[in-house]
Amino acid sequence: VQSLFLFLAHIVFFPKKGPILSIKTPKGTRDFFPDYQVIQDYIFDKWKEACLLSGYQGYEGPMFEHLELYTGKSGDEIVDQLYTLQDKKGRDLALRPEMTPTLARMINQKGPSLKKPAKWFSIPRLFRYEKAQKGRLREFFQLNLDIMGCEGIEGEVDLLLAITRMLKSFGLTQADFQIGISSRSILSALLKQRNVDNDAGVYAALDKKAKSSPEAFAKLLSEAGLNEEDQSFFADFMNVKNLTELKPFCQTEEATAAFDELNSLFETLNKLGAGEYIALDLHVVRGLAYYTGVVFEVFDKAKSMRAIAGGGRYDNLTKVLGGQAVTGVGFGMGDVVLRDLLEEKGLLPESLASQTDVFVATFNSDTLLAFEVSENLRDLGLKSQHSLKSQKIKKQLDLSNYFGAKYVLFADAEANTDGKFEVKNLKTGEQNMFSLNELAEACDV
Ligand code: HAM
Repeated sequence: VQSLFLFLAHIVFFPKKGPILSIKTPKGTRDFFPDYQVIQDYIFDKWKEACLLSGYQGYEGPMFEHLELYTGKSGDEIVDQLYTLQDKKGRDLALRPEMTPTLARMINQKGPSLKKPAKWFSIPRLFRYEKAQKGRLREFFQLNLDIMGCEGIEGEVDLLLAITRMLKSFGLTQADFQIGISSRSILSALLKQRNVDNDAGVYAALDKKAKSSPEAFAKLLSEAGLNEEDQSFFADFMNVKNLTELKPFCQTEEATAAFDELNSLFETLNKLGAGEYIALDLHVVRGLAYYTGVVFEVFDKAKSMRAIAGGGRYDNLTKVLGGQAVTGVGFGMGDVVLRDLLEEKGLLPESLASQTDVFVATFNSDTLLAFEVSENLRDLGLKSQHSLKSQKIKKQLDLSNYFGAKYVLFADAEANTDGKFEVKNLKTGEQNMFSLNELAEACDV
């Protein structure tokens, strides 16, 4: 009786676990179903096209690295967001939260054989244990463009032109996005000018200004070691709107030199016609510790979303990681906010459209014939599909619509003669006789 009772209690209190279906994706990750992936591919293709047009070469690295690659220099929020793991030999590793340390490590590995300046790009999958929210996930992709070994502002100019070209290629205009530019060298010089000796702490505080109330911001500055006078100096500094207002803040030789550099960056970009996309924005400080010079962030014009991209100059990272000093400047652009923005502006392509040139249908549900004709079409470079099982013609036509095919070819239509097939243009509804070569021409292959 006791065991029967236990058995029944077990069923009531511990019902059988549900099927595997109840397992969801981990928080902050995505499934890329075909209609989602097709847009992802579109974004990647545009990114890649823009990078190659602007002369950047592709590279990749491992998705996990030795933990110490990220923890060597402290103070970054990103270190708290690491996904860490130990391999079977007990080695401490981390999934990459960003690409820049990997890039610096690879540059160090190349040593003097690196042809400089090196303009490289990559589209890594990254992992950050941060609060999953709109525009921020725990797993995402990030286009990285970096120039290693270019000391002058030509590096910044090249990258900022690449960003505008790339965003314009998606159909975005000056009304949709803006690049806010600032300079850590100016900040660093001003901190010296005011005898403050906690650059990293002050940067971290300033970086949080937009997200803090004036009281909370004052508290952050005071915790970073700024006295009241310094706090008011930096509060005024942060309110500066243009270069003319900025100039009087820069009193020392170092601050003036940093100002002149920023001024010259703006002048050059204005001359190159990119002036309408850029603005001085001293709120851009950047959360990462390694930046040493010009820093920038790209936002949607309404500033209703998280940053689309961010980057800047980092001239010490390779040295910090134990190599030669090689100057670097670069940025990362995530897929998540960009996709949201393109969607909001109606600039995403139709989901599965144009993935299929020709759908091969057969009245007699002749799959062998459908395979044969499809293979012949593929030999000519046409993207071809057909049903993989016996199906009524109506079902096959439904499938052709689902795939967004441009044409349906009726492989066993009575009208077919002399190597010509009956073909329907699904856009216009027109029906014509086409040889496979003529069809390839019609599809612009
Ligand atoms: P970051 O500001 O951390 O910079 O990231 C750059 C961009 O990546 C962000 O503006 C955003 O578009 C995207 N992003 C960052 N975190 C997430 C997230 N959790 N979910 C979705 N998207 C995200 C860096 O990572 C630097 N390593 C960039 C760089 C390259 N600097 C020099 N070279």
